[in-house]
Amino acid sequence: MSTRIFLTGATGFVGGDALQRIALSNIFKPNISCLIRDVEKGAQVSKSYPNIRIVHGDLDDVKFIENEARNSDIVVHLASTSHTESALAISRGLADPSRKKPAHWIQMSGATLLAAKEIAEGRFGFKVDKTYDDVKDADEIMSIITGSPKRAVDNLVISQDPASIQTALIVGPLIYGTGKGPGNKRSIQAPEIARVTLEQKEGFRLGEGENRWSNIHVHDLSELISLLVEAAANSKTGLWNRDGVYLPENGKLEFGELSTQIAVEAHKQGLIPDASMHKVINPKEADALSGHASILWGTNALLHSSKANSILNWTPSGPSLSEEIPKIVSAEAERLKATRDS
Ligand SMILES: NC(=O)c1ccc[n+]([C@@H]2O[C@H](COP(=O)([O-])OP(=O)(O)OC[C@H]3O[C@@H](n4cnc5c(N)ncnc54)[C@H](OP(=O)(O)O)[C@@H]3O)[C@@H](O)[C@H]2O)c1
Repeated sequence: MSTRIFLTGATGFVGGDALQRIALSNIFKPNISCLIRDVEKGAQVSKSYPNIRIVHGDLDDVKFIENEARNSDIVVHLASTSHTESALAISRGLADPSRKKPAHWIQMSGATLLAAKEIAEGRFGFKVDKTYDDVKDADEIMSIITGSPKRAVDNLVISQDPASIQTALIVGPLIYGTGKGPGNKRSIQAPEIARVTLEQKEGFRLGEGENRWSNIHVHDLSELISLLVEAAANSKTGLWNRDGVYLPENGKLEFGELSTQIAVEAHKQGLIPDASMHKVINPKEADALSGHASILWGTNALLHSSKANSILNWTPSGPSLSEEIPKIVSAEAERLKATRDS
């Protein structure tokens, strides 16, 4: 029987791109079911992937999620990093004692996990030098998770019994690039800086702009998710639970520098009158411009990916964030034009 995969978030940026990569896998023939809450979006996914089974439902439909998990070998939960009830339902469904071998659960998380202290202290725009390596600093990362009860999903994932459920937690940094899924193809952090720059017709930075995040191209992230799915299908060991926290990255950038590069490119494309960066905003102003922007533009999350590179032979090769800025700016200009024209 082929490996049964239950995937959430297929109409989103991360999940749509990952689905495209997994569905293309020619190493094994997966039997994929996708949770989709919107009927029209479900039809769109079916059109792109006629062999995929669409299951209509919401993350809040916990009995339904539990049942889907029970009937799967691998759950790839990419719709949300913080929906506790669906995560609990997945753990109940996968923990079926009648299974002949452990089930697998690949869960998306986010790198704000590593910025909790700055967020609690309300310190935004400042540089913090600490880089977390997912092998060297594995114990410290584990303590951060267990010391953050608010990160209920992360804690649930790392506390599963590996004899029954083998888990991978992917701590996403800033993700960029254009998703290949049939739904949302746009990320948040860099596109939102570009949108605000274009709308306000000037570049800006949050505070000192010295804070940095690591980053990864979405296609490289999908390659990692696909490698983990293949490893799960092949019952590979040494990759899961307390050994299964992944910090994927392929570069880093200071937010002040990212904002400057966006303004320079917007000016080059004739979209704003000049590329000056005189405007400095505070965290409150950032939050009014874009959801949670003080955190998403103002904190530090520096990661170093060692585990996937050495154990799974993962070799990220996508263009850098700076190389993608012309595309990010022109895509935002098109979006704004479409909104104005509609
Ligand atoms: N983008 C990044 O840079 C980044 C980085 C790190 C972590 N993350 C995290 O990764 C997760 C996915 O991010 P994303 O960028 O892919 O977001 P996205 O583009 O907004 O996609 C979210 C996906 O989840 C689905 N979804 C959300 N709530 C649902 C619900 N209640 N029931 C059923 N489906 C639901 C959405 O369905 P609809 O199409 O129906 O809305 C969509 O398919 C988020 O938790 C995000 O915080 C993102």
